[in-house]
Amino acid sequence: MAQVVTSHRGPVTGTANRAKKRRPFLIDLYSTAVGKKYVMALTGIGMMGFVLFHMIGNLKMYAGAADLDHYAHFLQTLLYPLAPKGWVLWILRGGLITMFVLHLHAAWSLTRLNREARPVKYQSSRDYQIANFASRTMRWSGLIVLAFIVWHLLDLTFGVVNSEVGNMVQYEGDTEKIKAVYVSVIASFDRIPVALFYVVANILLGIHLFHGAWSIFQSLGWNNPRFNKWRRAFATGFAAVIVVGNVSFPVAVMAGVIS
Ligand code: HEM
Repeated sequence: MAQVVTSHRGPVTGTANRAKKRRPFLIDLYSTAVGKKYVMALTGIGMMGFVLFHMIGNLKMYAGAADLDHYAHFLQTLLYPLAPKGWVLWILRGGLITMFVLHLHAAWSLTRLNREARPVKYQSSRDYQIANFASRTMRWSGLIVLAFIVWHLLDLTFGVVNSEVGNMVQYEGDTEKIKAVYVSVIASFDRIPVALFYVVANILLGIHLFHGAWSIFQSLGWNNPRFNKWRRAFATGFAAVIVVGNVSFPVAVMAGVIS
């Protein structure tokens, strides 16, 4: 009698039966649209904090050169001597860059997900009752703000387009020279086209912030209609404070209020 041979045959290909490796939870979450919206909201909140503090710090300009320069120096030497000079600022910059990159990546990949979900354009004209002007211009305002940030860093941080950056000054009573930030800001805004670019970019930043501040609640799921009044008030108030503060600086220099 023929013997039945039972053999356990392996998978046809080397990959067929391989157990699927689980990705870490946060990466898994980020691969979903909800996860990306969370990332947009949380990084947005962080950057709103930066923009607010940056604007408040820059108000020192109205108190004069010494106040603004000492404030910039304070940031450079944050927590010194507990931490070496410049370290804390670099950690904060690292956090800001991380938030910025994540915010851009999430925006870009959400746009791609949206396009994949609707490869054929809407055939009828859209009824933009809910999607207002700010929300429809999010990508454009975001891109122009991005161009502004690149210029701004080349201008006031790296001095590529501003020969006053890098100058040092010693004030009475100080033991060392510090960066002469005030002079470089004035030099920047003394160029009318540059000052006007700052005005336009900051108005667009305001439009971007208005919709962003409004959307945070939606993205995080806190969108009970009862709170809509407060959401609108918060988004309007926040964007207005930033625009008025930031636009005032180039306007004040052009008007000769500060020089
Ligand atoms: C008219 C409005 C603004 C003025 C007068 C201004 C002024 C300045 C100055 C003077 C610096 C250099 C500080 C230093 O070297 O110590 C700076 C850096 C910077 N600004 Fe602004 N800024 C304005 C608006 C903005 C806006 C709207 C953003 C972002 C959306 C922004 C983002 C930055 C960043 C990322 C840096 C580099 C910070 C660092 O690495 O230390 N600024 N700004």
